Amino acid sequence: MSEMTFDGRVAIVTGAGGGLGRSHALALAERGASVLVNDLGGAVDGSGDSKSAAQLVVDEIEDKGGTAVANFESVATPEGGEAIVQAAVDVFGKVDIVINNAGILRDKAFHKMENSMIDAVIDVHLKGAFYVSRPAFILMREQGFGRIVSTTSASGIFGNFGQANYGAAKAGLVGLTRVLAHEGAIHGVKANAIAPIALTRMTEGILGDLSSQVSPETVSPMVVYLASETCEESGNVYSVAGGRIARIVTMETPGVVFEGLSPESIAARIGDINGRSVSEFVEPGSLDDETVLIATALAGGATEGARGSEGSLSSGLTDFRDFPPLAGVPSIAATAKFTFDLADEILSSQREFALEITKLFALT
Ligand code: NAI
Repeated sequence: MSEMTFDGRVAIVTGAGGGLGRSHALALAERGASVLVNDLGGAVDGSGDSKSAAQLVVDEIEDKGGTAVANFESVATPEGGEAIVQAAVDVFGKVDIVINNAGILRDKAFHKMENSMIDAVIDVHLKGAFYVSRPAFILMREQGFGRIVSTTSASGIFGNFGQANYGAAKAGLVGLTRVLAHEGAIHGVKANAIAPIALTRMTEGILGDLSSQVSPETVSPMVVYLASETCEESGNVYSVAGGRIARIVTMETPGVVFEGLSPESIAARIGDINGRSVSEFVEPGSLDDETVLIATALAGGATEGARGSEGSLSSGLTDFRDFPPLAGVPSIAATAKFTFDLADEILSSQREFALEITKLFALT
């Protein structure tokens, strides 16, 4: 494979004054990208600010012959997000890549968590990604190319004590990523997320023996790949740490369709609902897929044991609009119609996907 270069590409890396962001900025610049190094320069809890963090990284990039400019705006406000994107446009003329990396911690057991801790963390991690990505996405859509890489966390995907605010914000980024993957699909915009583990000031003292193996530099190659023209992946979440990379998937069990639905009958079959074997799980690729899955099950279709190649969703339907009316479940039929009307307008690729699925399973 030829070497990935970023000549002529413009990248914004938020929170790039240290830790993971610094490493991503250096890696992108080393391969030719012009980088806007954004960082408020605050403490781990988000307090304070300083211009030195971002400027030092810019100096480092320039010393190595790269191109970068510092930016000290906060991602946590709409004005800050706009200003960050505008700064990249003013200096470099466009934005091709956004790495949503800025972050803070305000850990506390849920029963002791104050509202200010919830707001601050959600503002930086989740709203911050909206505020920076949205103005950039508009430009990416127009130019027909864009890469958005957001930084989620195992804390939100799998759960972690004391991080309700952080976990919820990080899980929100998965939702944002998956929707942007759909909306960006026909405009050449790919959105993915990484759930890293790395030794930074945020994790100092908590990683034990792992510390020596998980430098930020072991995470950045994946970020560079996801930011590259080569990358065709979109809507994916990757666990990245110490040179190990894995895809994190959201799976669904075959489910149970009840004749006599009641809390008691649910209790009796909760084991079946939870799933018996991973090999039976499916991975819906979108809300449309999920709707097809539900409608197929309610119509008595064979979703049990159905599994797509490489874990993609299986379905027996050629086109959801051909699905027979579903007695007693008008909301699902309405949802199906709505989603396919939407698909008509913007997501022709999804229909191709649905047809592909049908070919795979030939259940009709
Ligand atoms: P870090 O504290 O070194 O980096 C975060 C950077 O974001 C800091 O330089 C900080 O000044 C900046 N920042 C904070 N609020 C900002 C704002 N409002 N606007 C602009 N910049 C702001 O920590 P680290 O570990 O490098 O974290 C980077 C990202 O990776 C964070 O989103 C974090 O939640 C995430 N992460 C890190 C993990 C790890 O193991 N280090 C694990 C999972 C996720």
